[in-house]
Amino acid sequence: MPDPRTAPSDRRAPRARVTLHPDFRRGAVDRRLFGSFVEHLGRAVYTGVYEPGHATADEHGFRRDVADLTRELGVSMVRYPGGNFVSNYVWEDAVGPVAERKPFLDLAWRTVEPNLVGTDEFLQWAEREGIEPMMAVNLGTRGVAAAAALVEYCNGEAGTRWADLRIAHGRTEPYGVKLWCLGNEMDGPWQIGHKDAHEYGKLAAEAGKAMKLVDPSISLVVCGSSSMQMPTFGEWERTVLSYTYDLVDHVSMHAYYEEVDGDRASFLASGTAMDRFIDRVVASADAVGAERRSDKKITISFDEWNVWYLETRFPGEANLPIQRDAPRIIEDVYSGLDAVVVGDLLVTLLNHADRVPVACLAQLVNVIAPIMTEPGGEAWRQPTFHPFATTARLARGTALDVRVDAPTYGTARHGDAPVVTAAATVDDDGSLGLFLTNRSDHEVEVDLAHVGAALGVSEGWQMVADHEAAVAGPEHAAKVADSCWSAVDVAAAVTPGTDGSTTVRLAPESWTALAGTFARA
Ligand code: AHR
Repeated sequence: MPDPRTAPSDRRAPRARVTLHPDFRRGAVDRRLFGSFVEHLGRAVYTGVYEPGHATADEHGFRRDVADLTRELGVSMVRYPGGNFVSNYVWEDAVGPVAERKPFLDLAWRTVEPNLVGTDEFLQWAEREGIEPMMAVNLGTRGVAAAAALVEYCNGEAGTRWADLRIAHGRTEPYGVKLWCLGNEMDGPWQIGHKDAHEYGKLAAEAGKAMKLVDPSISLVVCGSSSMQMPTFGEWERTVLSYTYDLVDHVSMHAYYEEVDGDRASFLASGTAMDRFIDRVVASADAVGAERRSDKKITISFDEWNVWYLETRFPGEANLPIQRDAPRIIEDVYSGLDAVVVGDLLVTLLNHADRVPVACLAQLVNVIAPIMTEPGGEAWRQPTFHPFATTARLARGTALDVRVDAPTYGTARHGDAPVVTAAATVDDDGSLGLFLTNRSDHEVEVDLAHVGAALGVSEGWQMVADHEAAVAGPEHAAKVADSCWSAVDVAAAVTPGTDGSTTVRLAPESWTALAGTFARA
């Protein structure tokens, strides 16, 4: 048998066929699919979203330039405060008068956390920016009481201890935080307070029960596996859900993708790996439901996903020196190729709109992020910013059940993968968002069969992969944007047919978004 790592992967694909029908619907596109993540990690908070003294800082110390880019990115929801950070976090130390707060040593990232930004500062920033908050509780070093107290602090009415503490800190109205994570990546041995599936399942069930007794209107996310590669994957979901099925709404998924050893073909197929991962977690959750004869469906909170050069550039948490003053940790610089993969991962998420209502691009600023900043300096968009912002803007209404017939190619990491992927959304007013990835190293012609409705394309945007190494800084990001990101020449790339078929030409290794209409005559 040929070694799959050296076997040629034939990515030539002259044609593919994509079929759209207005009645073939996958599910409503939940706006929370366009969530992101701000963790107390590196420069995500300090000199990221928050930098008092910066020329654009508002009266609360939050950077206006970053908030403006966040709005342009189309982020609907932000997860906070971690991540691994939350598993040793003492939230009570970061509320109340800032002058009285004490720094603590965060063991997750081995960084001195100054506690200048805490629950109130974050929630008020999110509120000002019109972003829904998603909060995580510490189930690593803490448990039921601290989790229930935090829900009361955030959502309680006057007259009880923790709600009154919030009011004493100057915030009368409850924040009304709806979505809560029961810890973070508790299956991972790196997690502070890591647990086995039974220990975690029992704790999550008790913490979630207490949190819902404080506020029955909240929704809960129980930790799934940290990745599909975890040795406990599958069994973890089964065990944890056996304790929490009736209590929780979502199970979490986390996945990061990267190009390893120059294996571009596998990297471009990351969306196929994500697709299989989602199918497997859905199957695991449904199996638990079936055993219980339950009509309830657990959905997915894909609350960490992105390109992250974890294997190739990150030394590992334990190898980080103890640092202070917002160190530069995991500031990956992205290329056009990375942005094509991010666009393709969004195609996968849209195609699972029926089971994935919540997703968070990890993270928002500086840490594996679409937005970068310099302390005291400018803020800029990484290449990955563009496919996310464009999808968040165009993907509205309902995700269609798109049929894709495309040749496949062999990959070393993810098996066979289609060379073309597609997702489509239609809004009530007939506006269409169509998202296509060409993983082939050749141009591909896509026959777009539109059955049951007329299709028109008015505008489009395209990201093409580059071959240059990514270099840090705003100049590099601008250069990639100039050379890789462009408006589609619709007249040249899209040829309407007379027989309910339109031809779209896709550049090699590209991600394309088309806007138009898809309406019945
Ligand atoms: O996003 C960075 C880290 O990745 C998060 O803290 C953790 O949950 C995951 O392993």
